[in-house]
Amino acid sequence: MFELKWYKVTRLRLGYLARVTIGKLQNVRRDRILLWAVLLIKFTVFIWICTTMAVLSGTFGQIRVPSLPTRWYENNGYLMVSSNGGLNQMRSGICDMVAIARYMNVTLLVPELDKDSFWKDRSEFKDVFDVDHFITSLENEVRIVKELPPDLKREVDNGTFHSMPPISWSNMSYYLNTILPQIQKYRLLHFQKTDARLANNDLPLDVQKFRCHVSYNALRFAPAIEKLGRKIVDTLRKKGPFLVLHLRYEMDMLAYSGCTEGCNDKEVQELTRMRYDIPRWKEKEINSTEKREAGLCPLTPEETFLTLRALGISKKMQIYVAAGDIYGGKRRLANIAKTFPNLVKKETLIPRSELLPFQNHSSQMAALDYIVSVESDIFLPTYGGHMAQVVEGHRRFLGFRKTIVPDRRRLVNLIDRYNTGTLKWARFSDLVKKAHATRTGKPLRRKVVPGFPKEEDYFWSNPQECLQAR
Ligand SMILES: *[C@@H]1O[C@H](CO)[C@@H](O)[C@H](O)[C@H]1NC(C)=O
Ligand SMILES: *[C@@H]1O[C@H](CO)[C@@H](O)[C@H](O)[C@H]1NC(C)=O
Ligand SMILES: *[C@@H]1O[C@H](CO)[C@@H](O)[C@H](O)[C@H]1NC(C)=O
Ligand SMILES: *[C@@H]1O[C@H](CO)[C@@H](O)[C@H](O)[C@H]1NC(C)=O
Ligand SMILES: *[C@@H]1O[C@H](CO)[C@@H](O)[C@H](O)[C@H]1NC(C)=O
Repeated sequence: MFELKWYKVTRLRLGYLARVTIGKLQNVRRDRILLWAVLLIKFTVFIWICTTMAVLSGTFGQIRVPSLPTRWYENNGYLMVSSNGGLNQMRSGICDMVAIARYMNVTLLVPELDKDSFWKDRSEFKDVFDVDHFITSLENEVRIVKELPPDLKREVDNGTFHSMPPISWSNMSYYLNTILPQIQKYRLLHFQKTDARLANNDLPLDVQKFRCHVSYNALRFAPAIEKLGRKIVDTLRKKGPFLVLHLRYEMDMLAYSGCTEGCNDKEVQELTRMRYDIPRWKEKEINSTEKREAGLCPLTPEETFLTLRALGISKKMQIYVAAGDIYGGKRRLANIAKTFPNLVKKETLIPRSELLPFQNHSSQMAALDYIVSVESDIFLPTYGGHMAQVVEGHRRFLGFRKTIVPDRRRLVNLIDRYNTGTLKWARFSDLVKKAHATRTGKPLRRKVVPGFPKEEDYFWSNPQECLQAR
C-alpha cells in the first residue's frame, strides 16, 4: 500500500532526528530516554498512519492503485508542456506527459492549460487541479516543479527556447530515441500540444499502470471544486439514485459537427455561420442527414428522451444534466422534463452564489460535472467525446460502474423506424435494450487496430491494464 512506504520513510527520519536531539542532552539515562522516545515516536507514527488511512479510505471517489517503488534517477533535463483542448482532453494529455517525463527521467514543469481553446478559460493549473497534491504524490516517481531554474526561466522569458508538437500516438521508443536527445542537447524542450501524443497500445505494462496512477491518484481537482462537487453529489444522493446525462447538445458541438437534426431554419443558419467563422473547424460542407445516419452526431434531446424511455429508466429517477446551455433550450427539453420531473443540473441544485466563483471558467464548471458523472449510479453520454470517454474509463477503474454507451448508428435507425410507425413501441424498446445489453461499462478488451490509432478504443476509455487486479 501507498501509506506503508511513507511509514518507512517517516520512521527513519524521525528515528534519526530523535537520536540527534537526545545525543545533545548528554544525559546518563540516555538509553532509557532513547527507548521511551522511540516508543513514543512509534506510537505517534502509528496513530498518524491510522488517521491517514482513515482519511484516505474516505477520500472522495478514490481507490488507490498499488504503490510503485521509490526511484532515484539522474535528471536528463526539463520538459515544459502546453495542454490543449477542453478539460478532459487536457486531463488525459497531462497524465500522458507525466508518464513520458518519468520514462525519460526528466523534470516536468507544472503543465500550462489551454487558454485559447473554444472555451477561452483563463484558469491556471492550480485553479483546476490540486497542484501540491499532484507534485507530492508523484515525488517518488518523477520530479515536477512549479518554476524552472533561473537560467532556463530567462530563456523562456526571452522566447529563445526550443518548442515542438510531439507526433501523435507515439510509443516510448519515439520519446527515448527522438525526443530525449533533444532535451539533453537543449536542457529544456517545450511541447506545444499534449492531446493523444501517447499510443493506446503496445506500451510497457508499467507505463500503462503509471498513467492510471497519475490520473486516478495524483490528479485531483482543486479543493474548492472537490468540495462543491461533493456537495452536489450529496444533495442528489440524499434523494436517491441518479443518472447523469451528458447531453452534449451545446451550440459549439452542433456548429462543429454540422449536426442540425431537429433544428429550425434560423438555427441551421446560425450554426452554419458559426462553423464557417472558426478557421480551425475545417470541414465546411456537411450533410447532417448522412452524418447522423452514420452514427456520428450527438443524440438530440428528443432522441435521448426516446432512448431513456426505451431502456426502461424509471420516471422517478433523478436525471442530472451535465452540460452547459442546451441548444434550443426549454423547447428541446420539453418532453424529457415532462416525463422525468426530477430533471436537475448544478444550477438548480446549488445556490447561485456558490456557483458564481466557477461560472466564468468552463474548465472548472466541467470539473464539477466530471465529479458528479463519476459518482452517478448510471452515466449516459449522448456523444463519444473526450468527457464521455474519460469518465467511462474512470468509472471502469472504480469498479465497472454502469455507463451506457449509446450505439448511435443503431439508435437513430431504430428511432426513425419508430417515428414513422414501422416499429411499435414494445418492439422498439426491446431492440434498444438488446443493442445496449453489452454496452454498460463492463470488462471488455480494448479494440486494437495497428496503424490506425483513431479507430482503436481510446486508452482512457478502457484502461484495462489497470483493471485486471479487481
Ligand atoms: C532512468 O533512471 C533509471 C533509474 O531509476 C534507469 O534505470 C533508467 O535507465 C533511466 N532512463 C533514462 C532514459 O535515463
Ligand atoms: C535573448 O535573446 C537574444 C536574441 O533573441 C539573445 O541575443 C540573448 O542572448 C538572449 N538572452 C538570454 C538571457 O538568453
Ligand atoms: C514504436 O513506433 C515505431 C514507429 O511507429 C515503430 O517502428 C516501432 O516498432 C515501435 N516500437 C515498439 C516497441 O512498439
Ligand atoms: C443529404 O444526404 C441525403 C441522404 O443521402 C440526401 O437525401 C440529401 O438530399 C442531402 N442533402 C443535401 C443538402 O445535399
Ligand atoms: C464573468 O464574465 C462576465 C463577462 O466577461 C463579467 O461581466 C462578470 O462580471 C464575470 N463574473 C465573475 C463572477 O467574475
